[in-house]
Amino acid sequence: MKYKIALIRGDGIGPEIVNETVKVIDRVGEKFGHTFEYVDVLLGGCATDAVGVSYPEGTADRCKSCDAVLLGAVGGPKWGSDKPAEQRPETALLAIRKDLGLYANLRPAALRPALMDACPLKRETAERGIDLLMVRELTGGIYFGKRDKYQTEDRGMEATDLMAYSEKEIERIGRRAFEMARLRRKKVSSVDKANVLETSRLWRSMMHRLAKEYADVAYEDVLVDNCAMQLVRDPGQFDVVVTENMFGDILSDEASMITGSIGLLPSASMGDGAPALYEPIHGSAPDIAGQDKANPIATILSAAMMFRYSFQLAEEANAVEAAVDKALAEGWRTADIAKPGEAIIGTRRMGEIIREHI
Ligand code: IPM
Ligand code: MG
Repeated sequence: MKYKIALIRGDGIGPEIVNETVKVIDRVGEKFGHTFEYVDVLLGGCATDAVGVSYPEGTADRCKSCDAVLLGAVGGPKWGSDKPAEQRPETALLAIRKDLGLYANLRPAALRPALMDACPLKRETAERGIDLLMVRELTGGIYFGKRDKYQTEDRGMEATDLMAYSEKEIERIGRRAFEMARLRRKKVSSVDKANVLETSRLWRSMMHRLAKEYADVAYEDVLVDNCAMQLVRDPGQFDVVVTENMFGDILSDEASMITGSIGLLPSASMGDGAPALYEPIHGSAPDIAGQDKANPIATILSAAMMFRYSFQLAEEANAVEAAVDKALAEGWRTADIAKPGEAIIGTRRMGEIIREHI
């Protein structure tokens, strides 16, 4: 089969980790007899530098002409919050998510057996295992609500960001979560702040309706502050965690760290049609960009998710994940996951080893 992949290399470490991942994808093609064709898409700070805006016209259409999108990372201090919105990389990231209708962001956080020591939690907690799937709503809530900044008479400047959710938006992300749970350990934890927020009360009532419909799936409500605490106290209790956009942003960073490193976690963002977008959950790490130090594993595992979800190539996805596990079991470590005194390899070497194992 032939597949067309849009590549958003982006900023900082983005280009390096995408490079290694492309070589992994090509290795899979060689081994399993597929052809992968790539379309470069300019987005992020690099686009601002090249054409003056972070989200050039036609970006979404270029992506839509492909079967899937692979993104490295965007952002950096050079295009900071003091710059106009159209020049900031984050604006482009939100725009592409919205324009491709990618409302469901799946962020699996699993403690890989070889990395038990990299888990910052107590040994007995780690040994109980961590294998959860964060399902984050990605195109609604406070990220996309009306914003304003204005002068008041007596309180100086004032700013507001509106958090809004409709039943329709909550229902479709809720269904995703229950469907995913059916393929896993059949438990959904819905995270909200229903003791304070009206959006959360609407969220909760919709989730309860769905829980009745998906009666074969165990269901619980968890308040977001409690969830943040439970993630470090006993993360093994979670299977599928579904939550709104900003809570999911925050909790998924926390979930990544308890599995050893943010450099390990992939993600998939999907809507109801093609293409879906795959990206590591970490950022562009400008401090180590271009130094062959970044961990390419999160991006390589994102490609595995692409094989599984966009191309229905489960065997190929398993082969990539097994190759990553083998490299880790053999003790290969990039700086972010090495213990003090352990030998460290670079981005390119890690990519090469993983390819050899496919
Ligand atoms: C993420 C990132 C983005 C987000 C930023 C870069 C806008 O933190 O994908 O988690 O908040 O969604
Ligand atoms: Mg984030």
